[in-house]
Formats: sequence, C-alpha cells, structure tokens
Amino acid sequence: EFEGVRFPAVIPIRKKGVEKALQDVREIQSRESDIMICTYPKSGTHWVNEVTNMLIRNKTELDTVTKVSTMLEVIPDLSVLDALPSPRLLNTHCSFKYLPKKHIENRCKIIHIIRNPKDVCISFYYHAKSDPVLDFTGSWDDFFEMWMSDKCPYGSWYNYEKEMEQAEKDFPGMIFTCYFEEMKKDDTGEIQRLANFLEIPCTEKTIANIAETTSFNNMQQNKLDITKVVSGKGFIYRKGEIGDWKNHFTVAQNERFDVQYTERFKGSSYKSFFEQIKET
Ligand code: A3P
Repeated sequence: EFEGVRFPAVIPIRKKGVEKALQDVREIQSRESDIMICTYPKSGTHWVNEVTNMLIRNKTELDTVTKVSTMLEVIPDLSVLDALPSPRLLNTHCSFKYLPKKHIENRCKIIHIIRNPKDVCISFYYHAKSDPVLDFTGSWDDFFEMWMSDKCPYGSWYNYEKEMEQAEKDFPGMIFTCYFEEMKKDDTGEIQRLANFLEIPCTEKTIANIAETTSFNNMQQNKLDITKVVSGKGFIYRKGEIGDWKNHFTVAQNERFDVQYTERFKGSSYKSFFEQIKET
C-alpha cells in the first residue's frame, strides 16, 4: 500500500517496494513519439491496445504477446524499453500522477478508456480470482466490499477517473478518452476517432479490418493471448458485454453502489455519459 492505494505484488514492487518502483516509472526517459494507454483495470485495456498497435504499425494481425511487456509497473528492468522501436506503445494502470514525468512534459499522447464501473467491478472480480498475482480467494460479496472501501488493486475507480478528467482539463488535446460502451456500439466509428487523434490516415477498409480482427470472439480465441501463454488459461476475455453487472449485484448492493457513485462522481462529465446510457 502506498499513499492510501493498494498495488498488486508484481515483481518490481516485491523487489524494490512500491515507492521506489513507482519512482522508477516516473523517471523513465520518454520519447516524444511515445503513446501511453492509461486505464483503470478491466476497462478494455487489451482491446484498445490491440487497436492502437494495429493503427501505428499499419497491420491487421493480433499481436498480444510481445517480447517485452509494456505495462510499466510490471517490468522488472525498465532499460528493456530502450530497445523498443519508435513509436513505443506503453501502458499502465497507475493513476495520472504516477505517469513518467517526461511523458507529460513532452505532452506525449495518452489514450484513456473508461467503462461503466459496475461492469468494471464484476470484470475485476473474475480477473482477481484467476490471476495468480492477485490470488483473490474471496466471494463476490467480499470483492464488492473491497471495491466499496477503495481496497481493490490500484485503488479507487473514482479517484483514478477524476484524476484523469482533471488532467484532460489541465493538458488540452493530450488525452483521448473513449468509452468501452461506445466501442461496443460503434467500433469502426471509435477506431476512426482514435486514428484521427493519432494523426494516422486510414481507409474505411483498414478501419473495418481492424474492427473485425479485434472483435471479442477473435481476441478471445487468440492462442497468443498472453494470459494463456503464461498461466495456461486465458482470463482477460471473459464475456466482453455491457451490463453483466445485472447478473451479479443484489438489489441492496446496487443501491449502495448508486449512493456512492452519485456522491463520489458528482459533477463529472464522464458521469453524464453513463447517465445517457443508464438503461443499457
Ligand atoms: P469482461 O470481464 O466483462 O469480459 P482489460 O483489458 O482492461 O483487462 O479489460 C478486460 C475486459 O474487456 C474484459 O471484460 C474483456 O472481455 C473485455 N474485452 C476485451 N476485448 C474486448 C473486445 N474486443 N470486445 C469486447 N470486450 C472486450
């Protein structure tokens, strides 16, 4: 735990302690062409990562297993990043204030995906049960209480998203925010918006190919899914749906969640989006 936030016991954190591990990430020598994917866990990180990778490398094959993990906080020796070709596609679940300082100074591009927190919470519960690093052995009710008391790995969803929203205001044009729900409803439209942000000209055909290759079914069946390779069973691509929370939350849990959500997310522009799609 550091500054009130729990972090997963990944190798750098176990070896150096959270403070030093985060400090090392802050000190990374960013390149002006670096692109960072910033997400609270289970918001669609792998999806947007694949789409972005295809856009910047001009290809349409899945590439989930890279030789070097690009999730900054899990990399034991950050010097491996020096060998990556530009533009580097990096990612992290750490909140905005822990991003590499130079990335912000250089105003490098940031891609942020946000998802209905109730679905994030359910997705996180299943992930936590399957991921050997998190090794969560409790019940859904236990996980729900963890969420409600900000004790999930990477801390509070509200704090993460509010920090990101503030950063969007502080650094206009640097952050591209997309919604998981919009990606589901209009994948080609969102991929086009992302290509515009990245200033990558794309034909409609390329966009359609990327959407097809990164469809949930294709990604779920990908034998190169890193979690399949590392732990023998895939646990990232579970259902990929909107609204699965309805199959898990009790009425009482839903009411408590709504009370907390209304209070903690007051005044957020992201909140207005979720209000529009409340019934979905
Ligand atoms: P579920 O657990 O609800 O299925 P992350 O990559 O941040 O860990 O997020 C994983 C979540 O995004 C999982 O949600 C996963 O199924 C979903 N996801 C990943 N790729 C997807 C895709 N192409 N289409 C829809 N959902 C996808």
